[in-house]
Formats: sequence, C-alpha cells, structure tokens
Amino acid sequence: MNAIHKKKKIGIVTGGGDCPGLNAVIRAIVKAADLKGWKSTGIYGGYDGLLTPMKTRPLAHRDMDGLLVRGGTILGTASSGPFSAKTGQGKTRLIDPGILSRAKANFDRENLSALVAIGGDGTLSVALQMHAAGWPVVGVPKTIDNDLDATLMTFGFDTAVSCAVDALDRLHSTAQSHDRVMVLEVMGRYAGWIATQAGLAGGADVILIPEIPFNYDAVCRKIDRREAEGKHFTLVIVAEGARPAGQDYVSESPDTQDREIRLGGIGQQVAGEIQTRTKKESRCVVLGHLQRGGTPTQFDRQLCTRFGVYAVQMIAQKQFGMMAALTGTGIAPVLLADAVDRIRIVPKDGELVMTARALGISFGDA
Ligand code: F6P
Repeated sequence: MNAIHKKKKIGIVTGGGDCPGLNAVIRAIVKAADLKGWKSTGIYGGYDGLLTPMKTRPLAHRDMDGLLVRGGTILGTASSGPFSAKTGQGKTRLIDPGILSRAKANFDRENLSALVAIGGDGTLSVALQMHAAGWPVVGVPKTIDNDLDATLMTFGFDTAVSCAVDALDRLHSTAQSHDRVMVLEVMGRYAGWIATQAGLAGGADVILIPEIPFNYDAVCRKIDRREAEGKHFTLVIVAEGARPAGQDYVSESPDTQDREIRLGGIGQQVAGEIQTRTKKESRCVVLGHLQRGGTPTQFDRQLCTRFGVYAVQMIAQKQFGMMAALTGTGIAPVLLADAVDRIRIVPKDGELVMTARALGISFGDA
C-alpha cells in the first residue's frame, strides 16, 4: 500500500428511495477502506448533504456494528430536490451546473478523494453527470425494482421479492377460505420483475406486468376456467406499472419537474373490474413500502458486501465513472453510462414468462 492510498478519504452517499441493504453496503465500504488505512465520510440526506451547510460526518469502523442486518440507510436519502435527475419514464434531467460546482467546491473543501454513490438510475444518472464534470465517482446499484441495465441484479430486489412471496403465501389461505379473488399490488415502477418472480415463487394464477399490457376479458377467462375446474379462488399479482392495453399508467401524483410520478392504484381497479365482471368477491392488498423495509435477505447481505468491497477496489484502481455490477462470473466494473442509459425490463418472450405460461399462469393477454 503506498502513501497516497493511506491518505484517501471516501465520501459515501445514498440517494433515491431507500431499500434493504443500503447499510450493509456502507458497512462493507467503511470496513474495507479502514483496512487500507483510508477514512470514510458519510454524506447525509442524499447529494443535498454536499450543499452548504454541508451535512457530513466521519464514519468509523466501530460505527458499523449491527449494520449488516439493519434496514433503511443511516445516512438518510432524498428522492426529490435539486439533485433529482429522473422525472418520468426515460426522462433524465440535467442537474443545474451551478449546483454541481457548489457541491464540488464543498467536496474539495472536505478533502474527499472519491465518492461512492449508492442508488438507482436517478442517483447514478447524477453520478454520471458528476463524472462528466470531473468528479472521481463510482457507483453501486440499488433498487428493489431491479431495472438497472448492465447488472444482473441490484441489491434490495431479492428482499422485496421475498416480502411479496410472503404476502402471496398469506393471501393464498385466506383467498381459499373465502372463495375470493385476492389481488396483490407490488412496486417495480415500469418493470415487472418483482411481480413476475414473486408470482412464480408464490403460486400466483395471474401476473400483470407493465411489459405485457393486459385485457380484462383474458383475466376473467382465467378466473372462470379455475371455477370450472373447481378452484373457487384466484391469486392475482399486479405490478404498479401494469395497465390495460391502450390505457395510461395509474398514478397517485402528476408528473413534476423535480421527481418521478408515483405509480399506484391499478390493484384496486383490477379487483373492482374482476368483481363487476365475474361477480366473485375480490379484495386488493397494496404491499407498498413494506417491500422496502426490514432486514435484507442473506442473498442481499452477500451482494451488498461484495458491491461495497468492490467499490473500494474500484477507487484503489481509479476506475471512476464505473459501477460495480453482478455479472455471470462475479462482480465487475461497468460504465455508469451503460447502467443508466435505459431501464432493464422483463423480456416478454423470455424464459421467466415462458416458464410461467407453461404452468398455465395468465399474463392477461390471451
Ligand atoms: O424505485 C423504488 C420504488 O419503491 C418504486 O418501486 C416505487 O414506484 C417508488 O420507489 C415509490 O417511491 P416513493 O417512496 O417516493 O413513494
């Protein structure tokens, strides 16, 4: 280890919606940096913490106790405001150059030698813009939505899927007892990963996702077929971004300049329409932020730890403008630009969807 490495001081920031595993990544970065003789500094409240008055605090090895299993982020986060880069599907906003340069001046004043940005496409889009402006920044991919390109998986996703599977398991028994249709609405924004994978693992009969626009005739046909087979209950899992063919996303807030729209409400519509059409009692459960809370699964703990250690390695090797990614063979660096360029969605004719169809699971399209 050379003297320059010993002097390093890493800034760590978490941005966008929180998710299980953020603290586990922070822990891995701080511990791995500490073992190199480097210091770590937490930036509080997302990138906003870099603006005056700065919100930063040193993070020591001993502060990391218990963080592997703790949900949320000890640094806090922000999903709106001056550093919000995503304002809707595929819409990226350029951060005000004045804000970026004020933040950079504070970054330099704090003697930070590198920044680890932990976040989803919004946070990493800002990291990319920072890199273009000369910041030494690396990224770690976070989001329960699993919609980042260039990595096989983001951390937080596995925990969210486990939460949704647990909900389906619980709904299964009550649906069966009451001969009801139970509709579970899950998050995922414009990608149907949570709905598809939880639907497969939780035995859903119908999976509705943004990638495959659905029609109510097909959904109700599936329920009627089950009735005819003597199965008087049905489990439907619907992604918040799913929509009937030709219709717009169901949202709880309008498109704004400084944050993404909040999707939500499609589950209630689906339950209502099914009840009207089939005359079967239907109920909707919105899983919401339960998917983002709690302790990470063992898979996510491992992934977070690997990503955190890798981020420190990327800094050691000056691989700035890169993101730690899970590939088929391990963790590898990929260009931030490749990760945020477009979102990764469930392939309509991919193996996951084909597996579900082979079991007779309906996507509401046939
Ligand atoms: O991107 C993560 C996510 O949980 C999405 O699945 C969801 O649409 C959104 O964030 C909810 O955001 P908020 O916490 O601002 O309501």
